[in-house]
Amino acid sequence: MTSQPNKLAFNSGWQYAAAPEGTDHFSIGKRYGLFINGEFVKPATGKYFNTVNPATEEVLARVALAGDEDVDRAVAAARKAYKGVWSKMKAAERGKYIYRIARILQERAREFSVIESLDGGKPIRESRDIDIPLAAAHFFYYAGWADKLEYAFPGRKPAPLGVAGQIIPWNFPLLMAAWKIAPALACGNTVVLKPAETTPLTALKLAEVISEAGLPPGVVNIVTGAGKTGAAVVDHNDVDKVAFTGSTNVGRHIMMALAGTNKKYTLELGGKAANIVFADAAIDQAVEGIVNGIFFNQGHVCCAGSRLLVQESVADQVIAKLKDRMETLIVGDPLDKNTDIGAINSAPQLEKIESYLKIGQAEGAEMYQSSCSVPKKGYWCRPTIFTGVSQSNRIVQEEIFGPVLAIQTFRTLEEGLTKANNTPFGLSGGVWTDKGSKVFKMTQGIRAGVVWANTFNKFDPASPFGGYKESGVGREGGLHGLGAYLSLD
Ligand code: NAI
Ligand code: MG
Repeated sequence: MTSQPNKLAFNSGWQYAAAPEGTDHFSIGKRYGLFINGEFVKPATGKYFNTVNPATEEVLARVALAGDEDVDRAVAAARKAYKGVWSKMKAAERGKYIYRIARILQERAREFSVIESLDGGKPIRESRDIDIPLAAAHFFYYAGWADKLEYAFPGRKPAPLGVAGQIIPWNFPLLMAAWKIAPALACGNTVVLKPAETTPLTALKLAEVISEAGLPPGVVNIVTGAGKTGAAVVDHNDVDKVAFTGSTNVGRHIMMALAGTNKKYTLELGGKAANIVFADAAIDQAVEGIVNGIFFNQGHVCCAGSRLLVQESVADQVIAKLKDRMETLIVGDPLDKNTDIGAINSAPQLEKIESYLKIGQAEGAEMYQSSCSVPKKGYWCRPTIFTGVSQSNRIVQEEIFGPVLAIQTFRTLEEGLTKANNTPFGLSGGVWTDKGSKVFKMTQGIRAGVVWANTFNKFDPASPFGGYKESGVGREGGLHGLGAYLSLD
């Protein structure tokens, strides 16, 4: 049974014509070195690895694998730039460089968008409208703070920490680089950044932008590689601060590695957010919010609304409408402007998601997937929902990081709140209701860093972001994000 007798039959009556974004307006190098001290250099390891396009499985480029010696060189370059230039420069001058990065990113936005979609699989609509503009916005925002730090922390003496080691994931590659680099530079620190191994290309393109902006050599260094390279950055003796975004598991290892050292750290880890729909909500709007919450960026989102809690009296209606809406979602070529859901980022991630589809069914939940076709080559997952799940199910408790939604019902506000908080995570949440009083009650009760009301997945550089419990430590973004890169005597 569907909810709407007159609904549009998207998959039978008519089809969208292909609307692919061009790839002839930029070039990707065949092989990338490490960006150390303002230039691309060969890795001391002599080793390179492939980065592939997850939509086609084709190799896009070979990328240097940084070893301990390379990380050492990068940290030394960052230290030299910190002592010699960056920490001594007038704050307003520092700001000018950061503004320049922001403007060049805007000028080259189309190129960055396409490369982001090619390397990571996300739909061009998202990289074009969200990732790249938001990355530029972060540089603009923090450029403005560079010479106003005394006003941000009145009565304190804000001073930079030194060299920041920063490790980022593959779900928002350029945006995460911006989240990390922009506040670090604004506060007068220098940086060694390690992008994720499946999506290094936009960070390496950002190195070009940093050169074009004329930053002094060594202020930003970019070392590519996998977990071992990341661990070498974390463990390096001359790093003063570690900023990590990624899985809770790796976050735990990093916390152990940092215990007993003087290094400051922020960890932005996993999530399992509840998106809570009350019976008095605007139902069609809520359905859009559910779709945005879990299918945005293939569900590769730490703050994804991966648990739907829907009030019992409207559950059938909401689920029927959601199924109808899922039928209209287009899964396929990330470069096609019509695409809603792109490729899963990597073969291992697809394997992980598929294992959870099996786990969910074995736990007795009912699985529903949209009937869309998916390309033969590449890594794909149809939008999926599970109903009939219970609180202790693994698909309710664990981060799947794919387009997979677990649906539960509740009767009273208190029951909704209890279920929402009953996970090890606490990164985000969403509430859908017509009543302001319910919004306040829920947003105060949900133990999470960000709670959206009648919207979801909204981001702004001025707004702090971060988790409770196993979702991490510290805040990034906004004024709070400055504090993580300063000492405040
Ligand atoms: P991951 O946490 O291993 O990778 C994130 C970054 O950490 C990458 O740059 C990686 O190279 C680096 N890294 C890995 N091991 C490290 C170590 N020992 N020391 C320092 N850096 C290290 O995540 P992975 O393996 O790519 O994905 C596995 C699962 O983690 C996903 O299925 C998802 O559930 C979760 N995840 C969550 C993210 C979030 O933002 N909440 C982001 C990425 C993954
Ligand atoms: Mg790739």
